[in-house]
Amino acid sequence: MENSLIIALDFANGNEVDKFLVPFEGRKLFVKVGMELFYQEGPAIVTKLKESGHQIFLDLKLHDIPNTVKSAMTRLAGLQCDLVNVHAAGGKEMMMAALEGLEAGTAAGQKRPSCIAVTQLTSTSEKQMQNDQLIPVSLKDSVLHYAALTKEAGLDGVVCSAWEAVDIREKVGGGFLTVTPGIRMATDAVGDQKRVATPQFAHNAGVSAIVVGRSITRSADPVKSYEQWLEAWKGEKY
Ligand code: C5P
Repeated sequence: MENSLIIALDFANGNEVDKFLVPFEGRKLFVKVGMELFYQEGPAIVTKLKESGHQIFLDLKLHDIPNTVKSAMTRLAGLQCDLVNVHAAGGKEMMMAALEGLEAGTAAGQKRPSCIAVTQLTSTSEKQMQNDQLIPVSLKDSVLHYAALTKEAGLDGVVCSAWEAVDIREKVGGGFLTVTPGIRMATDAVGDQKRVATPQFAHNAGVSAIVVGRSITRSADPVKSYEQWLEAWKGEKY
């Protein structure tokens, strides 16, 4: 999990995913299945990607009453993803219920999926957070609060922006995953993301994994782009 580049497979259906993955034939990737793809294809898409040897982050961002989240996580655990997530805004009790569900749904001898919590979405600015969510503190303080709450609940880490990773480690200690979307090369379009950082910045901040979507999936040459991203992220030639 540490030092991973996770490709967000934000496609409308499985055919588009198949087409995207053809030039990656033979490579074992770490991919993210989000709501759009999962709602279209269901659990079968996860099973198929898993059978091809890829690691899976199932990004469904659960946020509901504890009992519902627990039951849902029990089902998701059966898919044997590597990573799943919830919204920290659902609260500590909900996050603990998520873990209970994952543990209940993980077969004996299998590893339970790691579970992380979204702090503040990387598409949220401080102003939006203060106006829309009526959270009167700074964005950094809100993220740090959610990170501490997530740690207390026993989860494995958080989704945050690369800008917050160092402070989170300082606050909650090491061995806690920081998974960071909103990553862009200096020349890339930012789109709807607000708290963006370059792969080099994320590397220097010591984040556990970066999530990259459109910069790779919408590139004219996704394999070349992926290799450029690996190089920028890990500082190694591929
Ligand atoms: O295309 P882009 O690189 O912006 O994709 C980022 C991916 O990470 C999207 O799939 C988005 O849903 C996800 N994500 C995010 N911010 C979070 C959590 C997940 O952008 N806080």
